[in-house]
Amino acid sequence: MGLFITLEGPDGSGKTTTMRLLEEKMKQSGIDFIKTREPGGSPISEKVREIVLGIGNEEMDPRTEALLIAGARRQHVVEKIRPALQAGKTVLCDRFIDSSLAYQGAGRGIGIEEVLNINLFAVGETLPDITFYLDVDAATGLERIAASRGREINRLDKEDISFHDKVQKGYKEIMAMFPSRFKRIDANRTPDEITDEILKLILERLS
Ligand code: TYD
Repeated sequence: MGLFITLEGPDGSGKTTTMRLLEEKMKQSGIDFIKTREPGGSPISEKVREIVLGIGNEEMDPRTEALLIAGARRQHVVEKIRPALQAGKTVLCDRFIDSSLAYQGAGRGIGIEEVLNINLFAVGETLPDITFYLDVDAATGLERIAASRGREINRLDKEDISFHDKVQKGYKEIMAMFPSRFKRIDANRTPDEITDEILKLILERLS
């Protein structure tokens, strides 16, 4: 079985830049991997992403949101993640189950345990081996969110500061629930420093 790696972080943690740079460095290191993302990652799941993140679907109920994302996740796991892992490939996934626990469970207030249950139903045994959490100071994170406000387009980006605050606190709780799987990464540094540390940890796990 290949190694299943997920990257998590609140909005403003620099996850997009980290993901791009990490992909480059993993390629240079000769790691046999696929990169994917959530919500999405397979054709059906990308269609669900459009529904979930689309501007204009503001009337969506929180549980509907959680179920749609979990449904998209199931399809992604079955169609793409599991086959890659079974072929011995490393899988690098931009957001996964913990995003649902943080955003829907904590952010939307459904409850982490409830969202965990529907997600375990969705993914079965396919859980990440390592989850890198990009930990950013609340103030820095909020600054970055404010700075990127103009270009963000998805429905969740439009949520207010208190939502993002709940998401960050949720992630802390989730890390405490799964201490062996989570690696906290100090994201108050340059993208190069952040990705070098992650790459080093991945190479250690692979050797
Ligand atoms: P994206 O544009 O990929 O944002 P980011 O750069 O922050 O990853 O949009 C993903 C959004 O979807 C993000 O706001 C978090 C949200 N999301 C959930 O609410 N629940 C989930 O399970 C996942 C995977 C994402």
